[in-house]
Amino acid sequence: MSQVTAIKKSNITDTEFLNDVISGLTQQQKTLPCKYFYDDKGAALFEQITSLQEYYVTRIELSILEQYSQSIAQMLPENLSIIEPGCGSGKKVAYLLAHMANVKTFVPFEISEEMLSYSLAHLSPLFPDLAISPLLGDFTHNQMVKQLTKDTALDSQTNLVYFPGSTLGNFSPVKAIEIMNNFHRLCGVNGYVLIGVDLVKERQVLLDAYNDKAGVTAAFNKNLLQRINNELNGTFNIDNFSHESRFNEQHSRIEMHLVSNCTQSVIINDQQIDFIEGESIHTENSHKYTLESFKQLAAQANLKLEQTWQDDSNYFALCLLRPL
Ligand code: AVJ
Repeated sequence: MSQVTAIKKSNITDTEFLNDVISGLTQQQKTLPCKYFYDDKGAALFEQITSLQEYYVTRIELSILEQYSQSIAQMLPENLSIIEPGCGSGKKVAYLLAHMANVKTFVPFEISEEMLSYSLAHLSPLFPDLAISPLLGDFTHNQMVKQLTKDTALDSQTNLVYFPGSTLGNFSPVKAIEIMNNFHRLCGVNGYVLIGVDLVKERQVLLDAYNDKAGVTAAFNKNLLQRINNELNGTFNIDNFSHESRFNEQHSRIEMHLVSNCTQSVIINDQQIDFIEGESIHTENSHKYTLESFKQLAAQANLKLEQTWQDDSNYFALCLLRPL
């Protein structure tokens, strides 16, 4: 068996969810942070999304990994440690690990305990000699670099920060730069950052990917309201909201919204929130980049784009970056 250390729980607090929900729902344009999608039910729904016909993102990224993981691994030195923020099921890193020699430590960093446990169960039999040092937590927190270096045995010189899945797309440009700055510090002067980037493409393809016919994405979106009901004593009537995906041209992003079907009020932890008919809660952004716009964003975090691997239709790119 591989050397899996016990899961370390870091930086998740109970009051943060309530605070974020109330502050998001009392703004002019109501919003909820998308990181709260991933309770156990939400994480399972996301896994279902990844195999939908309309959701090309995971399928295409996996095909790039299948074709190029050996070439990617050849760019990387031996004795690296790998950190994967938001690792989910841990399926993607297996492609890289299969081609890498002498990986020191793998640090899966994940907000969903169920997904983190799943990733360990999946990876440890595949890589019996690998040291795995799992961390349960929220990688969007600012102290994440400190946290990771404190809670794991990472050295500070040569790490690979692996960030596939277009997770970066969930963040505003300012926050994306902040996150990549953290990656820059975490990977070390001789380190590497490998990011999965979803590219701009035909509008209808994007809209369909976030509004599938079977309604799984709608269920994923609405589950956030159910979670508020479950964990914060909310009184949302889920059927009174409709899922919508929109493309915001100005910001080059898909937006998910939950639109109120009627005028209604909801109570969350004694606080009343009013909705008028047609009003929406903005629940997620998923930014779509060009290689050029991504390169410029990364440069603002002092990361230089070294190489990219793409599918034939240029739907998705894996981008290897290094500190400037
Ligand atoms: C997990 C952030 C990559 O934005 O495509 C899937 C989440 N939302 N369908 C994405 C998601 C709706 C997904 N990421």
